[in-house]
This record gives sequence, structure tokens and C-alpha cells, in this order.
Amino acid sequence: MSDPTITTPSPVDVTGEARTGFSSRLGFVLAAAGSAVGLGNIWSYPTQVAENGGAAFVLVYFILTLMLAYPALVAELMIGRYGQSNPVSALEKLPTNRLWQPVTRLSGFIAVLMICLIFSFYSIVGGWIAGFALAPLFSLAGLNDAAQWLETFSPARNLILAALFVVMTLSVVNGGIKNGIERWSARLMPLLLLLLLVLIAMVMTQKGALTGLRHYLVPDFSLINTTLALNALGQAFFSMSLGVGAMMVYGSYLNKSCNLPVVAFQVCLVDTGIAFLAGLLIIPALFVAVDLGITIYTPEGQLINSDTLVFQVLPALFNGLGTLGIPVALAFFSLMTIAALTSSISMLEVPVSCLTERAGMPRKKAGLLICAGVCLVVALITVWFDPLFNGVIILTTHYAQPLDGLLFCLFAGWLMGRNRKLNELRQGWPEAENSLFWAIWPWYIRLVCPALILMIFFMQ
Ligand code: TRP
Repeated sequence: MSDPTITTPSPVDVTGEARTGFSSRLGFVLAAAGSAVGLGNIWSYPTQVAENGGAAFVLVYFILTLMLAYPALVAELMIGRYGQSNPVSALEKLPTNRLWQPVTRLSGFIAVLMICLIFSFYSIVGGWIAGFALAPLFSLAGLNDAAQWLETFSPARNLILAALFVVMTLSVVNGGIKNGIERWSARLMPLLLLLLLVLIAMVMTQKGALTGLRHYLVPDFSLINTTLALNALGQAFFSMSLGVGAMMVYGSYLNKSCNLPVVAFQVCLVDTGIAFLAGLLIIPALFVAVDLGITIYTPEGQLINSDTLVFQVLPALFNGLGTLGIPVALAFFSLMTIAALTSSISMLEVPVSCLTERAGMPRKKAGLLICAGVCLVVALITVWFDPLFNGVIILTTHYAQPLDGLLFCLFAGWLMGRNRKLNELRQGWPEAENSLFWAIWPWYIRLVCPALILMIFFMQ
């Protein structure tokens, strides 16, 4: 980074000493966008689009991101910045009436538990991505069997690569985020963006791509129903890392001179933009693959392997590039591994900040303990993949994240009081009181957000 004002774009206090914040707005936006942009954008979003009827899903997803995820993100950042501590303590501090404290504390504990579960399934997918990044290197070295093993679904591969991903996350967190991953990601994420754009241009020239493009951009409104809306809601909350305290921790490291609604909007824009581009690559690529004779849908139009869709479609695309395919695959999956790591460090940070601040545990020990627990859960999931993998995803992303996010909106709306909210907004935005945002947002998170989220659930 050439900007001299950005000295510590790090969300995490690596040494465990004083609570270091983001020294600049850009630093924060980069780190929070690093948390938001990850496998949710490139693995889960295109899969959901393919599963839920293309453009109809895209439309509902964008509307829900703006109407629900954005205001919830502001609420979560605000609770975090107000609390200046880990999510459980920040939530505990929120109500002035002590009677509410057990409730807010409990929601915090649930969030911590859920984020550990999210970290578990995320590591499995992160491991797959890392495996696909390593495979081209193994092939180049002539180790074709090993490359094949890395790319083929098996419990052993799933477990070993997931453990590798957990260890990478831990070593990034322990080894110094300031000098490592944050700087890297600031440099490498634009590269990922560029690569996406180049690949999109390449895909568009292939047979079948235009059918895919139409599927992605022209909505069939008859496909919109409550299941689709619930899926889109879960995806929006997952993609913006909401409802489980990750953005709360980031908010707690956020400088008081930052304008909350503006930075939240920027994070939202980056996250949604990258998701949109990933869809623009993968949905046409999927139709190209279908055109090449790869079976992706059943005769009834159901996706055959939704978990691994992206891992079928992208390698097919890269193989079609001939020898160029190997470096492209290497670049794409390496960049994705890094994007996944900037997300997983924000997951690990939640339980670690709780253990260090609430139980006084040293940072490294806390990280080790959590990672050991997560590896155990990963082992369970890999052994009993079929019900557990999707079960954990549904429990955490479809239910826990929107519902806990709803609670956070209610807490910020009803327990935090107008004055405390306004004070928090005014720091970094002195004119907040006369803004349109302030005219709408407080009652919006009190009533509209919770009502809409509940409506989507109950209509299901
Ligand atoms: N949002 C990230 C993604 O799209 C994943 C993520 C990071 C996350 N931190 C989170 C999801 C916390 C839920 C909760 O890949």
C-alpha cells in the first residue's frame, strides 16, 4: 500500500496487547470486505443461483441484501463499536436494564457457537479450494496420482485438507496479520477481480454461454417463492458475515472517526459486486459445460451435486484452455484460497476474542483450543458427510444467522436507546441527526427488518 495513512489495516490485535484499531477507513473497508468476500461469493452464491432458477434468485438476493443485510450490518457494526469488546461482552453491555442482560448474553454465546460450526464446514470447502490450487503444481511435478487424489472426493482428502486450512488460518492469525495477510489481500484481491473479468470475457466466447447469460440476467418471476426468498436471505447474511458476531468484532476495532453507514455500504457494494461477477462467470460456464456433455442437472432439472458444482464447472472450463489452463487454474484457486483465509480469520477471531477477554486466556492458547475443537467437528462431518455437511450449513446459514441477526437488530433498535445510537453515529458523521438515514434506520431496524425476516420464515 502506498498510502502512508494506512499503517495497520488489521482487524486483529495479534499480540494480545492494547486493542489496536483500524487506522484508516480504507484499512477497515479492506479488512471487512476481506471477511465478506470469500467462498460465499464464489462457491455458494453461484450454486444457489443455479439451484434456484437463475435471475429470479439474483433479483431477490439483491433486494434482500439492500433491504435487510445492509441495515443489519450497520446495527452489528454499531453494537461492536459501541461495546469496544468481544461480541458476548458487547451484547452484554448493551441493555441499560439488567434484566435483559442474560438474553443478550445468550444470543452472544449462540453466535459464538454458530460461528465455530460455520468455521468447520467452511474449512472443508476451503480445503477443497486449497486442494485444487495444489493439484496443478503436483501435475507439473509429474505427480499425477497425487493431483488426482487432491481433486477427488474422499473422506481422507476432505479431512486432511480441511485440517490444513484450519492450520493455515491459525498460523495467519498467530503469525501477524498486520504484515501478512492484510497486505497481501489488499494486493491480491484486485488481482482476483481482474482474473474474474478476464475469465468472464473468455467464457462469453464459448458455445452455450449466451444461454447461461440469459438464465443469469433475465428473471422468470414465476419462480419466486418463499423457499427461494429464504435461501436468498440466508445467502445474503452468510455472504456479509452477519448474525454471528464477526462484523461486531470488526466494528469494535473500527475507528470512532468512521462514518458507519458509509463504510457499511462500501462493504456491501464490494461483496455484492464480487458475487455478481462470480455468477457472471460460473453460470455461463455451467451452460458451456452442459453443452460439452457434462451432466449437471437431472432430467427433472435438479442439480446433481450442488456442493461440488463449482469444482466440476471451473476445472472443465480451465481444461478447455489447453496448456494455459494449468497456470490459470493455479492462479484462480490460489487467489480463492487467500480470499477464503481472509474470511476464516474473521471467524476464528470471534471465539478467540471471547476467550482472551472473558476468560483471560492467552491468544495463542485460545486459538489452538478453538482450532482443535473445530478439527474435531470437521472429523465428524467428514465421516458422516451426508446428513451432517448440509445439516450444519442449513442450521447455521438458514436459521442461526438470520435469526440471530434479527435479534441484533432488535437489541440495537429497542435496547440501545435513541441517544446512544445517535451519539455512536455522530462520531464520524457529525450531521447524522439531520440525515435521511437517521430518519429511517432506527424504526426500520426496530420494526421493518424483524418483521420482514419473520415473515420470510413463517411463510415458509
Ligand atoms: N462472508 C464470507 C463469505 O462469503 C464468509 C464468512 C466470513 C462468514 N466470516 C463469517 C460467514 C462469519 C458467516 C459468519 O465467504
